[in-house]
Amino acid sequence: MDIFKTGADVQAVISNTQNGNLKQGSNDGVESNAGCSQEAAHQHTQPGLFAAGVFGMPHGVSQGETGLRAVIPKALREYECPPFLTCQASAASRGFHSTLPGYRPTPLVKLKSLARELGVGEIHVKDESSRFGLNAFKGLGGSYAIARAICEKAGLDADCVRYEDLISEEARGRAGLLTFATATAGNHGKGVAWAAGLLGHKSVVYVPRGTADSRAKAIESLGARVVVSPFNYDDTVRHCVRDAQSNGWVLIQDTAWEGYTQIPKWVMQGYTTIVSELREQLAVEAAMSAPAQPPTPTQKQVRAEAYVQEAGDETGVPGPQSPTHIFLQAGVGGMAAAVLGCYADCVGKDYPVSVIVEPDRAACMLVSAARADGKAHSAFEDERGDLRTMMAGLACGEPNPLAWEVLRDLASAYIACSDKVSARGMQVLGSPLGDDPVVVSGESGAVGIGLLWIICKSPWYSGLRRKLQLNENSVIVFVSTEGDTDPVNYRRIMDGE
Ligand SMILES: Cc1ncc(COP(=O)(O)O)c(C=O)c1O
Repeated sequence: MDIFKTGADVQAVISNTQNGNLKQGSNDGVESNAGCSQEAAHQHTQPGLFAAGVFGMPHGVSQGETGLRAVIPKALREYECPPFLTCQASAASRGFHSTLPGYRPTPLVKLKSLARELGVGEIHVKDESSRFGLNAFKGLGGSYAIARAICEKAGLDADCVRYEDLISEEARGRAGLLTFATATAGNHGKGVAWAAGLLGHKSVVYVPRGTADSRAKAIESLGARVVVSPFNYDDTVRHCVRDAQSNGWVLIQDTAWEGYTQIPKWVMQGYTTIVSELREQLAVEAAMSAPAQPPTPTQKQVRAEAYVQEAGDETGVPGPQSPTHIFLQAGVGGMAAAVLGCYADCVGKDYPVSVIVEPDRAACMLVSAARADGKAHSAFEDERGDLRTMMAGLACGEPNPLAWEVLRDLASAYIACSDKVSARGMQVLGSPLGDDPVVVSGESGAVGIGLLWIICKSPWYSGLRRKLQLNENSVIVFVSTEGDTDPVNYRRIMDGE
């Protein structure tokens, strides 16, 4: 594998087996190598973006099926954490969530055998499948945004609002009966339907064409009216916005655009509950895995104990078990930006190497990074691209600009993956090695682990591995953002079909 510098502000990592998908005429200042297969060419290569390609995969994945594209920014900007993603904002979000019926931190699972197999130090997976019984993390964002919207209408103090306040007769009298609307690839709509119902209000949820029946039914079963639109995800959002405006519904969208930013900020703030839990769990894990009777407590242990005591309300203190790496998958980028942006605010300059993972047909963050002009860009030149991927939650062609601004300043690398990579991750987590626990992880939840597997296992990616500083000392965190939200496909993948 070779690293090629572009004339622009990015480096592209290119497998030395093919350059069939290099966009001719847009590669000023780029060296390339020839004689490559066209097999893994990507349709949507953008200027300044270079495709990596074919590699040999052990364990039954054949060459050409799992090509990766990677972009590594040469320099990052200085990060200034937006107020809605600070450590304090995260404490407020978790404070609210912990008052909701059924709240429990989702488990952080350690995969020791997998770490050994892949030659890395530690692998931790935050398993979001049990979040509020919704099989995905998304209820965190929808519920927090709905709570804040009700607070505004009912004149409640949003910073310390509790579930009981929101369902009180007084709040209901002031806010009235509201209808919350959203467009969704599935999980966000489920979260909005659940939260609206829980808080005594109504919801209408728009889903794109081709949405799995099971996903639409799951939303309906939570009390929402479901509208199946004839469009892809991005156009379904526009469809929903128009209908919400004409019907006076409160739009709870998990992406932002000009003139619509407040609610997406609350949605992202809701996701930061993950960071609060994660830091606490890493601290406990570090304290527990310390030697039984050390002669004197190490500095690390002292810090772990201090953190466990104070968890949630300090800033700028490095976590005791600081991960060296975090892999975060992106649709519109809200989850990745919320977790990375908040984590960076909590730990300061100790924040980990971060890899943003996307489906190759919907890699809007990677395209934006490759353009290197600091702006968010659509994954497609004509804005009507084909978003087909089994990673339904990540099938978004247009970035959330609020999320992009955070990732632009913090993310170390962007990698676009085929569905095969996600399938590999689902299998690795669902059928674990040795004594590792089973993690049921769906298409959008497992792609990061699939990517790590491939980067560590395939000799073609040794350069990328080095570039990302993945080695036996790496402590890597993943967020498995969903369980088997499409059970039919989950079974198919686990059966190796
Ligand atoms: C399971 C799952 N993971 C990840 C994401 C990505 O989140 P975002 O769109 O905020 O990037 C989604 C989005 O719906 C999702 O459903």
